[in-house]
Amino acid sequence: MKLIRARDYGEMSRRAANLIFAQVTLKPDSVLGLATGSTPIGIYDCLADWFAGGDLDFGEVTTINLDEYCGLAPTHPQSYRYFMQTHLFGRVNINPARTNVPLGMAEPEAESTRYDALIAGCGGIDMQLLGIGHNGHIGFNEPGSSFERGTHCVELSQSTLEANARFFKEGEEMPRAAITMGMGAIMQAGKILLVASGKEKAGILDKALNGPVTPEIPASLLQLHPNLIIVTGDM
Ligand code: PGA
Repeated sequence: MKLIRARDYGEMSRRAANLIFAQVTLKPDSVLGLATGSTPIGIYDCLADWFAGGDLDFGEVTTINLDEYCGLAPTHPQSYRYFMQTHLFGRVNINPARTNVPLGMAEPEAESTRYDALIAGCGGIDMQLLGIGHNGHIGFNEPGSSFERGTHCVELSQSTLEANARFFKEGEEMPRAAITMGMGAIMQAGKILLVASGKEKAGILDKALNGPVTPEIPASLLQLHPNLIIVTGDM
């Protein structure tokens, strides 16, 4: 486990983006596992800037996103497909056919099977970017009694609903379920890049990295990953 402590959000974003830069430079056809949420936005801004400056080429990259809300179409402004389009895909030369986000409008069970086959068909993930939820979730693998291996549909926990309500307008209905990559594909990634920013994440990050490995804190399983890099900011 390698822990990099950045001073603030900007430095955290640059440091993490540099690791993705190195990954894509060394292996231009990398399979990147990507994440949404507020934490990775600065990373995507760096990558888009470096692409605009001619330093980075996404032409051969494949991306596989962690999750999507059930019932949201890709064109819905709160969908994770829309998020990725806005923050990264639409700003770099990635081949749209090589970008993958679970389909929120599909039948969840069939979509889970399709997604796991897709990940396997890509030969697995070279580098997986992860944020961490206040309750220790990664992707939408919520606290529970066991680790789920494959892609699956989840009821969002109350804490996640409250944390993510800020992205939805007042009166706008927030989906209560999501489809998420499971812990198996995440743990099989060649490298994991976990980013966390702000003092309010310090407690859960400490529990995840230094406490017992338990499905009550899904991120704790990352302790067992042989190539885990954590970049924190403002902690
Ligand atoms: P955040 O979400 O980056 O918006 O804090 C992280 C997560 O829930 O995985």
